[in-house]
Amino acid sequence: MSIGLLCDYLEIDEMGIKATAEKLGMDLTYIPFRKISIKIDNDGYTVRSKGKDYSETLKNTQVFINRAQSKNRRLMATSFLEAIGKPVINPLSIEFLCFSKLRTLTELHKNGIKLPKTMFIPCDPREKTKDGYEVRNEEEIAELIKQELGENDVVVKPDAGTHGRGVELAENPKELLKILSEIQPSIINPVGVLVQEFVKKWFYDLRIIVAKEKGKKPYCYPKAMARAGLSDFRTNTALGNFVFDVDLPQYIRDVAVKCGEAVGKNCEAWLLALDAMISIGEDKVADDDYVRAELEKLAKPFEAFKKVKADPAKKRNFQSWNKRLEEAFKNYQSSEAYHNVREIINESAAKNKSNVLFHEANSCPEFWEQTRLVTGANLAEYLLACAKSLID
Ligand SMILES: Nc1ncnc2c1ncn2[C@@H]1O[C@H](COP(=O)(O)OP(=O)(O)O)[C@@H](O)[C@H]1O
Ligand SMILES: [Mg+2]
Repeated sequence: MSIGLLCDYLEIDEMGIKATAEKLGMDLTYIPFRKISIKIDNDGYTVRSKGKDYSETLKNTQVFINRAQSKNRRLMATSFLEAIGKPVINPLSIEFLCFSKLRTLTELHKNGIKLPKTMFIPCDPREKTKDGYEVRNEEEIAELIKQELGENDVVVKPDAGTHGRGVELAENPKELLKILSEIQPSIINPVGVLVQEFVKKWFYDLRIIVAKEKGKKPYCYPKAMARAGLSDFRTNTALGNFVFDVDLPQYIRDVAVKCGEAVGKNCEAWLLALDAMISIGEDKVADDDYVRAELEKLAKPFEAFKKVKADPAKKRNFQSWNKRLEEAFKNYQSSEAYHNVREIINESAAKNKSNVLFHEANSCPEFWEQTRLVTGANLAEYLLACAKSLID
């Protein structure tokens, strides 16, 4: 049996996959996918770095876990691997859907899953004409948004963005025009404007793991990671938000499985991290001041955890650093304030479970440093099990 781990460099998540494979006694071959060349000609293909030929290794590898970090590089890698007959976690059709929020959302919608009201306007707010003028479209785009979503708060976001980058909240028409006027076509938003109704999700959202092995039904992990904070409407962990474990109500797990099936279609094995918000409205089970005060109490132990997470030497001493990371997390998690906020999130999610809205599927989620510690789900085990199921 041979599984290939394809990635740019071995970062912490990939080192975690390697360590997990070693623990499980599984063979894992590292294949770099950055400073290499792929040559295709009438004799076949070669894959080489400056000093090493990976062509034979590639031929002998039966299945690949694709951990290339950029969405574009991941698509390139999967396209190539599938073209030479190698199965990949995740398959190309999944990468293609997950690349774009609009593509993901239309697929979820097609399968009857509730989403935040979403609009796409295939027109850039500023356009250069051939004769050097600039056409300004933001007023018309704002009118189209008003026509469908009224004058409510809206969120503008890049179609292919990640980590909360470029995700902006417009609370009035003036702010919307300003946000629109600053949009430039880019690699994370090649064309047009993606807009969503602002979901009143209170101070947290959910990161939910769903995976499928060949021959088995998709499985939603019972615990999710809530990402929480009151300082920004964006709850991404990359923005420093707190994390809590949530026992998912069965209803949300069932919808998550449906989402996985919608994105996974007929693929035999895959792993996805879904993002969902619960539209709480005013149904808050505690007041904001209390939540804020409890989060403030957590700031110190969470900072201490983040300090270990940011240790520049972490890759050199992975095992000992990982131990320190786990200890710092345990210290954060064992505090009374953690318990209190956790209770609030769990109660709120259980009470409002039927208002869950799924808005994103991630095909290459980070997991070692937070998801694993919060939920107890080591995604490396799932990835390896998915890969193995395609060989058995
Ligand atoms: N429609 C929305 N209503 C309220 N908050 C939102 C909405 N869309 C996004 N957010 C917040 O912004 C964060 C980032 O948006 P998301 O669509 O997940 O983009 P990214 O891919 O950059 O993570 C979400 O985790 C959520 O907290
Ligand atoms: Mg997100």
